[in-house]
Amino acid sequence: MSFHMPTYSQIISPEDYNRINTDEHLYIANADNFIKELVAKEAANFDKPIEVIELGCGPARILTLVGQVKNINLTGIDYDDNFIKHASGKIKELNLPIKLICGEVAGYKHNLPVDVFYSEGFHHHVKKGLPLKSYLENIYKQLKTGGVYILGDEYLPEYSNNHERRIKAVMWYSHIISNALSSGFNYLAQEEAKTLLDDLSENHDHEAIKSNEQIKLVLENAILIEDSNKSGSLQMAEKLVQGLLDKISKLHNTRLIGDDSVDLSRGDYKISDSVFRNEIESVGFKVELVKRFGPVYDIGSVLVYLLRK
Ligand SMILES: C[S@@+](CC[C@H](N)C(=O)[O-])C[C@H]1O[C@@H](n2cnc3c(N)ncnc32)[C@H](O)[C@@H]1O
Repeated sequence: MSFHMPTYSQIISPEDYNRINTDEHLYIANADNFIKELVAKEAANFDKPIEVIELGCGPARILTLVGQVKNINLTGIDYDDNFIKHASGKIKELNLPIKLICGEVAGYKHNLPVDVFYSEGFHHHVKKGLPLKSYLENIYKQLKTGGVYILGDEYLPEYSNNHERRIKAVMWYSHIISNALSSGFNYLAQEEAKTLLDDLSENHDHEAIKSNEQIKLVLENAILIEDSNKSGSLQMAEKLVQGLLDKISKLHNTRLIGDDSVDLSRGDYKISDSVFRNEIESVGFKVELVKRFGPVYDIGSVLVYLLRK
């Protein structure tokens, strides 16, 4: 049985999590700063503090950044109590007036109507079907008319079936892994290789547990795949990806190895812009703005959406 992450902090420490995302990832810090700018713009429209909530705030990586915005009452929610404990320590240290809730986003009821929800790297963790519908409907209902959901996440290029999605996923993660390796960020590269293997099994093979051999294969192939893509040879890159997927499936594993960072799934499942739009438009959100952080060639990107109610 593949394990759904009960808590992310069983897989990665809050310190490592914050470091690899803020200091080492190619695009995430820029997206964080843009989210902060958008929150500040919304707050500037009002003459008294607005209600702002971060969904899936983790160990307060962005809360402390957005916490600097004037004219907001900020709340962070996450169901990982270890991450919330770490967040609480950081907030006290910086003396920021941020409220923390340890709980499930889909069931959270704020005590006031909300002006701004925002999230980063959260949406792709929510299981498709009922959990996705419940979370989106819950926040849509609590937003004031004219309020916004600012949502940052990693997106794949468009695909037309599951096989194509898997190919695009390998290309996107190879881009991030190969850049991490060439910058000496080996921990980030390992973490992304594990996340890719989790993503490939999600909604596809619930028995699979990744193995160290598979992780090694992903790391060995990432630079080759990225280099083919960069040199404009999409066909060659796709051939390399297919070869990698075949080798991964030959090493299919269902046994635990006793290391949580390998045995547990991060539950990632990355999608494209059009799949995402279907999800959020079906509850009533309208896309007002999208900003892309990512390579010029079509390999995926971090996108920040401003969704208006
Ligand atoms: C990839 S982390 C992103 C953390 C933070 N937004 C950041 O960018 O640093 C996703 C977070 O969402 C939390 N999470 C996932 N699904 C959740 C849910 N349904 N309710 C509450 N928290 C959830 C996880 O515990 C994890 O801390």
